[in-house]
Amino acid sequence: MSAEYQDVTKKFTLGEHITPEQQKFYDTFGFVHFKKVFSEETIMKMREEIAKAQQKCVDEQIESINGVPVKFGQRVDGSLVPQRTPFMNVLSPYINEIVTSPMLKPLLELIPDSRFGLGERDGVVINHYINAKKSKFKKLGWHNDSMRDLFYFEKIRPMLNVGIGLFPSSQTMGGLRLIPGTHLQNIFGFLFGKLHILDNRPDPREIPVEVEIGDLTIHDGRLWHRAASPTVKMSHERKSLYFPILCGPYKPKNKDSKAPLYVKIFAMGGPKFTDKKPDAKI
Ligand SMILES: [Fe+2]
Repeated sequence: MSAEYQDVTKKFTLGEHITPEQQKFYDTFGFVHFKKVFSEETIMKMREEIAKAQQKCVDEQIESINGVPVKFGQRVDGSLVPQRTPFMNVLSPYINEIVTSPMLKPLLELIPDSRFGLGERDGVVINHYINAKKSKFKKLGWHNDSMRDLFYFEKIRPMLNVGIGLFPSSQTMGGLRLIPGTHLQNIFGFLFGKLHILDNRPDPREIPVEVEIGDLTIHDGRLWHRAASPTVKMSHERKSLYFPILCGPYKPKNKDSKAPLYVKIFAMGGPKFTDKKPDAKI
């Protein structure tokens, strides 16, 4: 049998352990797609909780959480909405309960000596893509998360982004695109393979991650990936939820943490509250 996995379209079921087949798939392509890990009922409750927490950010003018800015934009009707919310697990006890569920523990087997980074980096992130004129976040260009390691003065290590399917995504609905196998590229590939964030163009090597509600995906942060705008099929709006699995030095954040430069750059340009708050009082 070949050392590499062959079928890039294969989807899996999450059990009590990562199987050798799942490990091989991850090693080859840098991602794994698990079907129907969460019930529709759970996802609907998560959506409700997230909407409530987003409104809390607006009502209480929460501009940052654990030092990481909340990025605000506007809906079609002009109402203010957080379009990138870090540390949703701090804002919402229900989301925290879901992401600390023991059923997710097997994911740690994919990377030796890894841990869930719920108190590190940006914790549980909600990206709210709105494809409208005053939106500040319609899509996300090509990038890999290895650049962040360099901003943190760390060497490039494997890391996983765990995503929970709050909304469907596909070729025609928009959502995550990735280039399988690029987690194995060299440092020049990570740095110069594409123009980070600014390049949005489809790539002939990319595949759409076709997610149904309740699916769980993990993708290696070293992969080239992008998020395509939600289309008319999605009423031009989608939220995604992801959080990291990390290895290497443990660097927890708290309310006194300062935002690293790349986060400040990424958060620039959105509407600001006039009455500036130093950090969330949660
Ligand atoms: Fe990313």
